[in-house]
Amino acid sequence: MQLIDDLVAEHDLIERVLESMRAFVDARIQGGADPSDGVRFIRFFRIFAGHFHHAREEGILFAALVQKAELPADRGPLAVMIADHARMAGMLDQMEPLFEALVLDPASSDRMQDLATTYSHALWHHIDAENSVLLPESRERLRRHHVSELPSRPLSAEELEARFCGEDLLAKYPPIRDTEVLRGDGCVLCPAFGNTCRGLEREWWNEWEWEEFPDNMPRD
Ligand SMILES: [Fe+2]
Ligand SMILES: [Fe+2]
Repeated sequence: MQLIDDLVAEHDLIERVLESMRAFVDARIQGGADPSDGVRFIRFFRIFAGHFHHAREEGILFAALVQKAELPADRGPLAVMIADHARMAGMLDQMEPLFEALVLDPASSDRMQDLATTYSHALWHHIDAENSVLLPESRERLRRHHVSELPSRPLSAEELEARFCGEDLLAKYPPIRDTEVLRGDGCVLCPAFGNTCRGLEREWWNEWEWEEFPDNMPRD
């Protein structure tokens, strides 16, 4: 499905720009980065990752999963992903004034580092959950309901410019790998698992799926 292929490709760019943003923040705090680039990072995450990427997930893919594949939006993986989008948009609101500032005092530098770390961890975990569970499972469930393609839309001029910002910043601030964050595939590494989501099987499996795999795991 082209939409899902596009979303995965966009994840690749978003996760690398996150690493680049972390490199920028380190350099910025040490006085080695152009302060005006902070605004461009916020533009990329708010407009490309938010208005373009997250909005198509919610408005097209998740809507189809609810309407065509009869999956719940008020609990389980879709509710977690939608809440993540809103939570991360809220983090950007907090990051924006610090990323716009031309001068940072020590307390603001610490706050900027904390927010950048929290935001990057949240978005990496979110991308891992989508890439390893939500998107492959969505493709299969839509196929079962005879949906092989979904509509998408091209980038607006503003979204395209935000994407260019990200690509340009990626070249300017080479990505750094955060060795502190535990990333990986599957529900078990998703921060929501056991908290706001019981995992894919318990949230999405129907009667015949449980009957087909009776020994897979207890239902509750
Ligand atoms: Fe998402
Ligand atoms: Fe995504």
